[in-house]
Amino acid sequence: MTQNSNILVTGGAGFIGSHAVVALMKAGFTPVIVDNLSNSDASVLDRIEAITGRRPAFYPEDVRNEVALTAIFKTHAIDAVIHFAGLKAVGESVAEPLRYYDNNINSTLVLCRVMAAHQVKTLIFSSSATVYGDPPSVPIREDFPLAPTNPYGRSKLMIEQILGDLFVADSGWKIGLLRYFNPVGAHESGLIGETPQGIPNNLMPYVSRVAAGTLEYLNVFGGDYSTPDGTGVRDYIHVMDLAEGHVAALKYLESQHAGTSGGDFGPGPLIVNLGAGRGYSVLEVVRAFEKATNRQIPFRITSRRPGDVGVSYADASRARRLLNWQTTRNLDAMCADAWHFMLK
Ligand code: NAD
Ligand code: UFG
Repeated sequence: MTQNSNILVTGGAGFIGSHAVVALMKAGFTPVIVDNLSNSDASVLDRIEAITGRRPAFYPEDVRNEVALTAIFKTHAIDAVIHFAGLKAVGESVAEPLRYYDNNINSTLVLCRVMAAHQVKTLIFSSSATVYGDPPSVPIREDFPLAPTNPYGRSKLMIEQILGDLFVADSGWKIGLLRYFNPVGAHESGLIGETPQGIPNNLMPYVSRVAAGTLEYLNVFGGDYSTPDGTGVRDYIHVMDLAEGHVAALKYLESQHAGTSGGDFGPGPLIVNLGAGRGYSVLEVVRAFEKATNRQIPFRITSRRPGDVGVSYADASRARRLLNWQTTRNLDAMCADAWHFMLK
């Protein structure tokens, strides 16, 4: 793999995928996007072109469509794959588990089958800190127990296990399992960002809409956690830092011999947390957003959200050590960029 390599990016029209496409292009890679647009819009291609000056190849296909995926591998000499495509809403996964398992797991099975058929064996998978469930302590290290608490999280863990089995069966694979903490913010151009449909579930998009006046106030889910101000603490990571983490992981895998990609965990998939390595409470986010926007964010403390954990933040030292990557954008930048995107 060289810097001109063709990288298939599944889910590349989505929130994290579109930022990763921009980061890949900046690093000299050539992304090829496949996305069924179930949670995104093809207009993101125009915006990627406006940012980078180039328009990546794009296929509006479902990754589970083996015929369509095979045709893409026949058209492009793919060198590696970053697999973002998936459904990600926790509550929806509880209501529709079969749809979640079908989409997330079958897309991965089809993808790996087509990759193997074309001798493409370098794969980065979007996992999540949700695989840790309620951690015994913080910061969360990669060797902590894995105990997801909902079908979405279980689909991520199952895929991690499937990819681990694949590595055992054929050590020609180089696999990266990246466990993201809480991606927020937007590209600094304000051209791409997160556009959830309907009322947002996640904190930062919700706060953006309160600041914009389209939602009246923020419900703070719980003021009685054992945290300094009683509200939940999370490891927010700027989506461009996260995107650059993928470039670092790709370069790391490229530098490894097949069969050894696990780093100091021994042979196996590379497993790393991608987070900032520190936590902020809901009220700290509210205050940072007020500062970035010069607007008031009215809020009410309400009951805890079922399934939420009090505190979650990463031990980010493994990514720093192995990938030579760490976050560079702070909470103020995350808020400013999320707001810039909202205004545009
Ligand atoms: P997103 O919904 O914005 O992007 C996912 C993209 O995949 C969408 O564009 C969607 O249309 C596409 N897609 C879904 N199923 C598909 C299929 N079968 N075939 C083709 N395309 C399909 O979500 P995101 O926030 O960018 O998340 C990307 C990945 O990162 C997901 O796998 C998600 O589970 C994971 N992740 C996200 C977060 C987060 O908080 N955003 C945290 C941890 C992990
Ligand atoms: N919160 C509020 N009010 C809101 C929304 C969120 O107070 O309207 C609080 C939550 O209780 C939590 C914090 O803000 O303390 C962050 O909540 P998010 O919903 O933004 O993020 P989560 O940490 O709950 O969830 C994220 C991803 C999930 C993933 C999970 C665990 O969105 O997909 O991390 O990794 F499963």
